[in-house]
Amino acid sequence: MTAKPLRIYCESFGCQMNAYDTEGILSLLEKHGHTEVVSPESADCIIINTCSVREHAEQRAIGRLRDLSRHGGAALVVCGCMAQRLGLTLFDLVPAVRIVAGTESYSLLPEAIADAVERGGRFAFLDGGSREVEVRSPRAGGRVSRYVAITRGCESYCSYCIVPYLRGKVRSGSSSAIVREVSRLVEGGAKEVTLLGQNVIAYRDGETGFADLVKRILEETDIRRLRFLTSHPRDIGPDVFELMASNERFCSHIHLPVQAGSNRILAAMNRGYTRETYLDKVRDARARVPEIAITTDIIVGFPSETDTDFGQTLDLVREVRFDSAFTFQYSPRSGTAASALEDDVPFAVKRKRLHALNAAVQEVRTGILRAQIGAEAEILLDGAVRKGQYRFLKGRTPQFRNVLVPSGGLRDGDVVHAALKRLANFTFVGEVVTEAET
Ligand code: 5AD
Ligand code: SF4
Repeated sequence: MTAKPLRIYCESFGCQMNAYDTEGILSLLEKHGHTEVVSPESADCIIINTCSVREHAEQRAIGRLRDLSRHGGAALVVCGCMAQRLGLTLFDLVPAVRIVAGTESYSLLPEAIADAVERGGRFAFLDGGSREVEVRSPRAGGRVSRYVAITRGCESYCSYCIVPYLRGKVRSGSSSAIVREVSRLVEGGAKEVTLLGQNVIAYRDGETGFADLVKRILEETDIRRLRFLTSHPRDIGPDVFELMASNERFCSHIHLPVQAGSNRILAAMNRGYTRETYLDKVRDARARVPEIAITTDIIVGFPSETDTDFGQTLDLVREVRFDSAFTFQYSPRSGTAASALEDDVPFAVKRKRLHALNAAVQEVRTGILRAQIGAEAEILLDGAVRKGQYRFLKGRTPQFRNVLVPSGGLRDGDVVHAALKRLANFTFVGEVVTEAET
């Protein structure tokens, strides 16, 4: 406990791991007697958790930090990948910044924040404290869908990616601690847990690999739905698909970043698979789990990418039939292997390819969703939505597809079966056909 309870305002940029870390930071600060506030105006301390994966993400975070520095007296804290990458130069870029905390140093924040607010001064923590994966307890509360980080770091060294340099080598949490954490979340009202890591398939605790961990969680806890994010196409295999096929609590969805459709570009990206081996994995997944949904990440405009290479990416999108895709323009990151290559695809060409790719992704997605109309799906409800005079609950199918159902008599956390009646944008509007299971 510090002498003075502080009001903390937090914003998170970037991936789910950052959102999870932000929750962990807030949880730690609450244990020290501080409280979260919802607006920066009333805060004593403003924390921004940042992303470095693309130049644009950093520019947005710096812009936001400059805006927030106009809020007067609050101590400005920068965490996450951009803090790790830019380090002390952040003090020059945004003079109001008081604390720069790299990706491994969040446990030092309570003391540093109290010092910065009470006594002034600037602090930077960049070489980390513990390199172990602490399976931390996020904040208590009955949220339906929660995250548990099971691995941290990445050693894949995809040639475009800054993450291995900022988040270090792969570390895995203890399987017993993860099982306990999932049980604790279930007791707090969680119905769904997503296991998080840059590549969860790299998970290893002694003899326990990822599929063994999933099996243990399914056997030893009452979690209603289990998911994971993200898996590397080189590493995922039949053991994971078989578990999905045999246990309906293990949701039929994989996020399987393909990045590109051309073998030449995949090799230059150091992805460790070819178009053909990726397609083999997809075929194997669908043979074992016919209802599986596959989502992906794709980069356009990697150095030397030609129209022919890009055409192969478009073909792959149509061949795999992704449920959805996050699409990005290549952004050189200094220190990565690809940053030594000339960024020779002009910005206008990258933009044109991105538009064409998004159009193909949306066309495929629309086709997949339309084919589901009239079918029934299991939906986990997790939040209210108002549309004009009507009230709905929103939820997701096991395939991670969005559904709205009229809210009458239902609550967050209920699992219902619904008939998928029609589509509004990319969200189904459904009608409940069986009673809620709580
Ligand atoms: N440029 C563009 N996109 C990138 N990603 C990672 N690094 C870069 C980069 N330098 C994308 C990849 C990854 C996702 C999280 O971000 O598609 O899967
Ligand atoms: Fe980056 Fe590749 Fe690791 Fe993903 S697998 S975090 S893209 S290096």
